[in-house]
Amino acid sequence: MAILELKNIVKQFADYTAVNGVSLSIEQGEFFTLLGPSGCGKTTLLRMIAGFESPDSGQILLDGKDIKDLPPEKRPLHTVFQSYALFPHMTVRDNIAFPLKMAKWNKSAINERVNEQISSVQLERFAERYPHELSGGQRQRVAIARSLVDRPKLLLLDEPLSALDARLREHMHVELVKMQEKSGVTFVYVTHDQSEALALSSRVAVMNHGIVEQLGTPREIYSRPKTYYVADFIGKCNLLKAKVSHSAAEHVTLSIADSFELTIANPENKFNLGTEGWFAIRPEKIKANWDPRVEDGIANFKAKVKGYYYYGDGTLYEFLLENGTVIQCMLSNNRPHQASFFEDNDEVYISINPLAGNFLVE
Ligand SMILES: Nc1ncnc2c1ncn2[C@@H]1O[C@H](COP(=O)(O)OP(=O)(O)OP(=O)(O)O)[C@@H](O)[C@H]1O
Ligand SMILES: [Mg+2]
Repeated sequence: MAILELKNIVKQFADYTAVNGVSLSIEQGEFFTLLGPSGCGKTTLLRMIAGFESPDSGQILLDGKDIKDLPPEKRPLHTVFQSYALFPHMTVRDNIAFPLKMAKWNKSAINERVNEQISSVQLERFAERYPHELSGGQRQRVAIARSLVDRPKLLLLDEPLSALDARLREHMHVELVKMQEKSGVTFVYVTHDQSEALALSSRVAVMNHGIVEQLGTPREIYSRPKTYYVADFIGKCNLLKAKVSHSAAEHVTLSIADSFELTIANPENKFNLGTEGWFAIRPEKIKANWDPRVEDGIANFKAKVKGYYYYGDGTLYEFLLENGTVIQCMLSNNRPHQASFFEDNDEVYISINPLAGNFLVE
């Protein structure tokens, strides 16, 4: 059974609809992420789960029970925000013990649980330090450890790493996943950082203007985006104008960027002759060679190198088609002694496998 279920949640501020009918369900033990740009309603949704706001309509079920009438402090969950909110005059140990003291646990039970918690998140070395003697990442680890110490049903995290620098953030990704796995607590994580969402989550809900555009595993979201918005928001993506130019049983042919054609499956006859949309394909799914490679079903056409960007593990090429369309292609730099593949103005052949992309009509 789902631990948390949101049913058609709506929240308005004056005449502005911040959350516009969100339904989703989260399983026990998941690392679930709400991902979306600034202002899309992530924090508002989290605050309703925490009980700091109430929905105008819809239901929030925790373990199958409506929690509408439970005030925030009675909900079996904690929230971690961007700022650390540790007690400055308390050591790490006392900070972590605080929720248990408030809940009137006895001293030996507190000691036992706090020691267990400190070692499970590897804070032993810092246990007697004060918050000002810790780095930002360490402070945030303490804040999370404190939130997990009484084993809440849910931990809500609102951009908890956004105050940290990029390197520390990456380190904290590993720590967060470990803390989540060890505690078994269900995490609901909010971020606008798509790479963070993909790296951490068991599932991701991609939000846009108060709705969930797509919900799925990181792999599904990345490789099978359902809308233009999701394809564009997550990772790099070529989004090429496409139109159905021919329709046959179970298949349609797309004319793409007025430059080449691809035939794709059309199982439920979703697409008709003339249907317009975009062919979305990731840069790393595109191949480029010196010679044409003719293969069944695969588009192969000439392009010219417009420029390239060295990324270390790969090089991102921009290829120009005759009509001015630009196609980005990420080539891996994993071949030894290979500094670059092509130079500006080189003529190359691009090949695109229709199975590597998605035809999006929304
Ligand atoms: N108390 C409030 N009164 C009026 N408008 C609000 C209030 N809280 C949020 N909003 C508006 O609702 C929308 C969603 O805000 P929310 O804070 O949920 O966005 P967010 O996705 O968390 O963005 P960010 O990534 O910037 O934190 C925004 O347009 C915001 O201005
Ligand atoms: Mg927010």
